[in-house]
Amino acid sequence: MEDRCNRVLVCAVLFFLLIACTVEQQFLVSRQERLALLQLRSSLGLRAKEWPIKSDPCTSWVGIQCTNGRVTSINISGFKRTRNGSQNPQFSVDALQSFNFLSSFNASNLALPGSIPEWFGQRLSSLEVLDLRSCSIARAIPFTLGNLSSLTELYLSDNNLTGIVPTSLGQLLRLSVLDLSRNSLTGMIPGSFSALGNLTLLDMSLNFLSGAIPPEIGTLSRLQFLNLSGNSLSSSIPAQLGDLSSLVDLDLGFNSLLGSVHRDLRGLKNLQKLMIGNNFLSGTLPDDLFSPLTQLQRVILSHNAFTDDFPFVLWSMPQLRFLDASRNNFTGTLPNHSLNANASFAVFNISQNFFYGNLTSVIRRFSFIDMSGNYLQGRVPDYARGNTSFSRNCLQNVASQRRVSECASFYAERGLVFDNFGLPNGVLPYPPKSDKKSHRTVIILASVLGAAGLIALLATFFVLLIVCKRKNGAKNQRDIGVGPVPANGSSPPGAALDFSSLGETFTYKKILEATGELSDVNLIKNGHSGDFFRGILEDANPIVIKKIDLRSSVKKEAYMSELDLFSKVSHQRLVPLLGHCLENENEKFLIYKYMPNGDLSMSLFKKTNSDADSLQSLDWITRLKIAIGAAEGLSYLHHECTPPFVHRDIRASSILLDDKFEVRLGSLSEVCVQEGDSHQNRITRLLRLSQTSEQGTSGMCNVF
Ligand SMILES: *[C@@H]1O[C@H](CO)[C@@H](O)[C@H](O)[C@H]1NC(C)=O
Ligand SMILES: *[C@@H]1O[C@H](CO)[C@@H](O)[C@H](O)[C@H]1NC(C)=O
Ligand SMILES: *[C@@H]1O[C@H](CO)[C@@H](O)[C@H](O)[C@H]1NC(C)=O
Ligand SMILES: *[C@@H]1O[C@H](CO)[C@@H](O)[C@H](O)[C@H]1NC(C)=O
Ligand SMILES: *[C@@H]1O[C@H](CO)[C@@H](O)[C@H](O)[C@H]1NC(C)=O
Ligand SMILES: *[C@@H]1O[C@H](CO)[C@@H](O)[C@H](O)[C@H]1NC(C)=O
Ligand SMILES: *[C@@H]1O[C@H](CO)[C@@H](O)[C@H](O)[C@H]1NC(C)=O
Ligand SMILES: *[C@@H]1O[C@H](CO)[C@@H](O)[C@H](O)[C@H]1NC(C)=O
Ligand SMILES: *[C@@H]1O[C@H](CO)[C@@H](O)[C@H](O)[C@H]1NC(C)=O
Ligand SMILES: *[C@@H]1O[C@H](CO)[C@@H](O)[C@H](O)[C@H]1NC(C)=O
Ligand SMILES: *[C@@H]1O[C@H](CO)[C@@H](O)[C@H](O)[C@H]1NC(C)=O
Ligand SMILES: *[C@@H]1O[C@H](CO)[C@@H](O)[C@H](O)[C@H]1NC(C)=O
Repeated sequence: MEDRCNRVLVCAVLFFLLIACTVEQQFLVSRQERLALLQLRSSLGLRAKEWPIKSDPCTSWVGIQCTNGRVTSINISGFKRTRNGSQNPQFSVDALQSFNFLSSFNASNLALPGSIPEWFGQRLSSLEVLDLRSCSIARAIPFTLGNLSSLTELYLSDNNLTGIVPTSLGQLLRLSVLDLSRNSLTGMIPGSFSALGNLTLLDMSLNFLSGAIPPEIGTLSRLQFLNLSGNSLSSSIPAQLGDLSSLVDLDLGFNSLLGSVHRDLRGLKNLQKLMIGNNFLSGTLPDDLFSPLTQLQRVILSHNAFTDDFPFVLWSMPQLRFLDASRNNFTGTLPNHSLNANASFAVFNISQNFFYGNLTSVIRRFSFIDMSGNYLQGRVPDYARGNTSFSRNCLQNVASQRRVSECASFYAERGLVFDNFGLPNGVLPYPPKSDKKSHRTVIILASVLGAAGLIALLATFFVLLIVCKRKNGAKNQRDIGVGPVPANGSSPPGAALDFSSLGETFTYKKILEATGELSDVNLIKNGHSGDFFRGILEDANPIVIKKIDLRSSVKKEAYMSELDLFSKVSHQRLVPLLGHCLENENEKFLIYKYMPNGDLSMSLFKKTNSDADSLQSLDWITRLKIAIGAAEGLSYLHHECTPPFVHRDIRASSILLDDKFEVRLGSLSEVCVQEGDSHQNRITRLLRLSQTSEQGTSGMCNVF
């Protein structure tokens, strides 16, 4: 019984001793270190709030860790300072020399303007982790830092460090992290780094390093993260980098690297990120360079001069989520094979290259693909809209494409067949028909002219008929003019134009939007009065826009007379003017309703839908309807307006046809007022058959 009691007593005493010892150990035992901490608090201007003088540093101070009563870790990262401290921040850490067991010093995000003291290397020999990120440190990295032989992690990024990278850092054999990024370091990457066999992260990005990447880096077999981007490194990528079989991220972007990418890089079997954009790399990237790199998630090849076929194997990499191959000289056609399902989350950018040929169904598999600035041709399938950017190609049925000439010469140079936007060669693109059936309408110009002449003649005949009838019947009807009739026959337009009759006012911006920046693809023709563009309004209504360059005096005159006409007349037989844009000094725009059936010269014959080779011509009922319509229009101008107007430019292409083949007269820029009331020589005036008639008519028309 007594024996048992004794044993319990001994146990209890031992237990309390043990607890006492443990508690004892947590207090700071070194008086020297306590003074050093207070000195540090004062020299850095740290606050008593975090480091209160009355309590024990090891147990109560923020960021202090102790082992066996000695300070082993100081973390003052992002500490707030006293007013005095934040007004005079200084890199004065002399007190650190008093800590013999300090293994970690973290002062990141704390301003320490000044340079890293030389004594760091000699006096902090126990240091394993040194974090001085974003500390506003300036000047060179001291050579003595190479004596911190216990160091495993060194972070000096985001400072103002200058000078060269000391080769002595190659002596830090235990180093696993070396981050010197975001400084102003110059010179070369030391070859001595090859000794850092335990290095897993090497980040020297955003400095001014030059010279070649040392091939010795290829020996760093544990390296997982290598970032040398944003320097001035030149020469080629050393083939030895392919030995870095642990590498996960390789970033060599934004340098001046030259030459081709060595096939040995296929050794980077664990690579997830490959960034080599914005260099001067060139040559071919074959599929078999990438096919072993099955872990790739992010690849950036942009802004180089890679040529030849694109390594389309990348498109079927199971993990790939982002690929930027823009701005290279890649060429070839798009692949036509299935992709694995994961590509539906991928964003790919192959813009600004030389891809050509048809779009293939492969593109529907991406969540987004930018193909702008290539030479792809053919129709854009419906499924491709939305997740795709197509501008500046040679595609049909989308806006903002390249010029016909650009596309044609690209295809010609390579001996390829260019589809000319789906039109026969030599014919300029015409607005897409709103109605799907007539989409492939092809106009056979040659056969048209004869029939058009016939219809024009018929129209003249009907005009005469109508005019004669009116003359015999109602003389007084003359004065049923339309719009304000100027006192002197006509006044200079612009001075007293009635803008309300000129339709809506369009902004220049709106014009640009509607016509894809007045792109050549939307150009219908260069008329003598201006250039005609097709356009689409926001509400999807098609329009035709005439651009008039007022620096040409001929066009200016034509424009003035057309404005004048529209301000005075309005009739269902004239092409409807929807609006105008007069805000630019030298470039004016008139906006007309789009005529789905084009003009007479185009509509006389068209290809049928079912059989592309058989022509369908207008039936004679429609032809008669057109002839009467044209006659009504001319008769209105000449007979119902006071003073009468003469069209002077009547031909097949001036007879526009709406969706029901109703005539809407166009080419109104030649219309002028007929002076006097004479109906003599009516036929010669109405039919402006040759240039010589121009002299003949100038005498009786007001030309402004
Ligand atoms: C360092 O100190 C900061 C601020 O007190 C704290 O947020 C952070 O967790 C500490 N970091 C480490 C690694 O102890
Ligand atoms: C203010 O800070 C400087 C250096 O940081 C120090 O020398 C000085 O003693 C401080 N003044 C006061 C009043 O704490
Ligand atoms: C230093 O402290 C910052 C802030 O807490 C932290 O993010 C960083 O990881 C620390 N550095 C090291 C090397 O632990
Ligand atoms: C580097 O120094 C310049 C002035 O020389 C200063 O404006 C800049 O903020 C400093 N950058 C850092 C990261 O301390
Ligand atoms: C490292 O320290 C030794 C003596 O301890 C000295 O001889 C040597 O010069 C130092 N090296 C560097 C790079 O400071
Ligand atoms: C490298 O790291 C391993 C394990 O992380 C360690 O055993 C070895 O001692 C380290 N080598 C050096 C030179 O520190
Ligand atoms: C490499 O460093 C730059 C700049 O520091 C950074 O923007 C980039 O994201 C880094 N690359 C990788 C792969 O993390
Ligand atoms: C698709 O992606 C997920 C997550 O990124 C990944 O876990 C999965 O293995 C991928 N599927 C295939 C077929 O590669
Ligand atoms: C594709 O790359 C080009 C040129 O590098 C760039 O302008 C464009 O914004 C990129 N597209 C996307 C969707 O990121
Ligand atoms: C790439 O194309 C550009 C024209 O866009 C040309 O000037 C350059 O020489 C080409 N580079 C190579 C390597 O073919
Ligand atoms: C792509 O392949 C599919 C069948 O795999 C075929 O139907 C289609 O016509 C091909 N497209 C092109 C453009 O070669
Ligand atoms: C491209 O598509 C057109 C039809 O849109 C077809 O006639 C032509 O054969 C296709 N070209 C190729 C190379 O597949």
